[in-house]
Amino acid sequence: MSADFRHEFERSPAGTWAAPGRINLIGEHTDYNDGFVLPIALPHQVTVTAARRDDGTLRLVSRQADGRAELRVDDLAPGRVDSWAAYPAGVVWALRQQGHSVGGLDLVIDGDVPPGAGLSSSAALECATAMAAADLYDVDLAGRRLAELARYAENEFVGVPCGVMDQAASVLCTAGHALLLDTRTMATTQVPFDPAAEGLTLLVIDTRAPHRLVDGAYAARRRSCECAASVLGVAALRDVDVDGLDAALAALPSAELRARTRHVVTENARVVRFVALLRAGTLAEAGPVLTASHTSLRDDYEVTCPELDTAVDAALSAGALGARMTGGGFGGCVIALLPSERVAGCVTEVRQAFERSGFAAPATFTATPSDGARRVA
Ligand code: GLA
Repeated sequence: MSADFRHEFERSPAGTWAAPGRINLIGEHTDYNDGFVLPIALPHQVTVTAARRDDGTLRLVSRQADGRAELRVDDLAPGRVDSWAAYPAGVVWALRQQGHSVGGLDLVIDGDVPPGAGLSSSAALECATAMAAADLYDVDLAGRRLAELARYAENEFVGVPCGVMDQAASVLCTAGHALLLDTRTMATTQVPFDPAAEGLTLLVIDTRAPHRLVDGAYAARRRSCECAASVLGVAALRDVDVDGLDAALAALPSAELRARTRHVVTENARVVRFVALLRAGTLAEAGPVLTASHTSLRDDYEVTCPELDTAVDAALSAGALGARMTGGGFGGCVIALLPSERVAGCVTEVRQAFERSGFAAPATFTATPSDGARRVA
């Protein structure tokens, strides 16, 4: 990494920072409703090798996107930078917006989080950049505040109205654990997560169907939730619990608002249930909770697509205990929980189902809960 940096910029880097991608076990489209999420960090990460520059210039090189950009920090403004460069540039802008005196940087971006697969490569890039810039400019920013700054950059500079889950996962996850995050209070609990101890494997199926959060569909879901909350007179859909669901549904004026609300309310309850099963050492019983989440995302939230539904159906018919889409939806990845001896058969069955449907071949890997962002050199 440092040889690469020297080659690009003809100087030595000051260090390398790494931040991981994530998958979410359960709690989908709940984070912008003040609800619960349960992500794990992946071993896949984005690295940023960097040095500070005192002339106010940002020179960015991406090995992942195979691109180069040069910007003046004084000129950074929302909407002015597009492409991958908006993520690191947005972080520098956000730091300056919040009053930190951060100037220029030379930065080489690399890593192995597949971009566009719904595994949060952009959040990983934001978090690695934020950590590098904070260290290099002596800004006291870590943990939850660093995640919130990265999310602010994505909302305000890049223009994606995401919740805080991806950035929080990239910063706060720890190896061997799932991160239970209450997005209202930002309280976190590290829940031990070791499927292998129960003879189980968490398989990730990357459908390779492109997922696009910038599209209006994500923002539209968000607006529906805000509208439902305001009709119900609550701050967020988090404030409706399953016992009050029927009354809430009866008060909503359209089938669409009822369906969106039903998803969010039941999904929050599923996170709580899943965590209870995990804590009790009965993960095998949590399979149906995962599948119920997928059904709800497919039928009530309408964020799945044929590739995601095909992967879930094929995994279940190959003996998975449960399976669901993970992340924003409209493409991206499915997770399947299955007895370890069934993994090979499941991969074959999913590939065959994709071939029969005329979809591109999916990629698969096993998810191991890994550490959050840190300095690595
Ligand atoms: C995307 C967003 C997250 C979250 C998920 C859905 O990954 O970035 O904030 O809303 O979708 O759970």
